[in-house]
Amino acid sequence: MAYSHIAVDIKGSVGVIRLDRPKALNALCAELFMELDEALNGFEADDAIGAVVLTGSNKAFAAGADIKEMQTKTYMDVYKKNFLTGCEERVDTSRKPIIAAVAGYALGGGCELAMMCDFILAADNAQFGQPEIKLGTIPGMGGTQRLTRFVGKSKAMEMCLTGRMMGAEEAERSGLVSRIVPLDDLVDEAINVASSIAELSQPIVMMCKESVKKSYETTLAEGIMFERRVFHSTFSTEDQKEGMSAFAEKRTPDFKNC
Ligand code: CAA
Repeated sequence: MAYSHIAVDIKGSVGVIRLDRPKALNALCAELFMELDEALNGFEADDAIGAVVLTGSNKAFAAGADIKEMQTKTYMDVYKKNFLTGCEERVDTSRKPIIAAVAGYALGGGCELAMMCDFILAADNAQFGQPEIKLGTIPGMGGTQRLTRFVGKSKAMEMCLTGRMMGAEEAERSGLVSRIVPLDDLVDEAINVASSIAELSQPIVMMCKESVKKSYETTLAEGIMFERRVFHSTFSTEDQKEGMSAFAEKRTPDFKNC
C-alpha cells in the first residue's frame, strides 16, 4: 500500500513507522490513523519482524488529533462511529513490542499514542502534554488514564487541568519515558534497542510483554500468579532450553521462535 501520511521501512528485523505529515506537525487525521493501522497489521503478521519503532520528525512526534478535522464533529458523529477507538485497539493489542521514539511535540493524541506503545525513548527536545483542556475538551485516547498510571495523580492532574508541557528531563524523572537520547541519535538508538529485542525469542518476548501489561489491569496477587504461570509455560518452549543451554555452554543462543 502507498502511504500519504506515514513512511514505512524495515531495518533488519525491525519495522519502522515514521509519522510523516510535516505541514500539520503530524496531527493524527483519520487517514493517518488508517495508514498506521495498516502498517501495524502488516508488521504484526510478518514473522520476520520482531519489534516495531514508531517515530515522527525532529519537530513533532505528533501534535495531537487533528483539531481541524474534529472542530465541526457533533456528539452523534463521534459517538456513533466510536471515534478514536480503532487506533487504541490496534496499538494496545499488538503482541510485538512497539517502541515510541519521541522528538519534539507529543501533545494530546500524540502523547497518548506514545503512551500506548510499550516504552518511550525521548529525544532531549521532547515535549509532552495533554493540552485538550485549552480546546474545551479532554484527552480522548487514554491520556487521563495512562498518564496517571505513569506519573501519578498529582502531576497527571496538573498536566491535564492546565495543559502545560513537560520537557524530556521531567518526563524521565516522572517515569513517563524510559530514557533520554540525544536528538541526532534517537531513531538509530530506538532501532538498536528494537533489534536487540528482535534477536530474542519472539514467543518469550510476547509472554514477557503480556505479563508486564497485566500489571496495569489486575491486583498484585493475580498479577504475580499470572506471571508465575507464564514463567512456568516458558519451560515448554525450545527457546527456554536453548537459552539456558547456551548460557551453561558459554555460547550465544540460537532462538528458533518455538
Ligand atoms: N491539529 C491540526 N493541525 C495542527 C495541529 C493539530 N493538533 N497541531 C498543529 N497543527 C497545524 C497548525 O494548524 C499549523 O497549520 P497551518 O500552517 O496550516 O496554520 C501547522 O500545524 C504548524 O503549527 P503551528 O503554526 O501552530 O506551529 P508552532 O510551532 O507555532 O506551534 C504547537 C506548535 C505548540 C504544537 C501548536 O501547533 C499547537 O498548540 N498545536 C495543537 C496542540 C493540541 O492542542 N493538541 C491536542 C489536540 S486534541 C487531541 O489530541 C484530542 C485527543 O485526546 C485525542
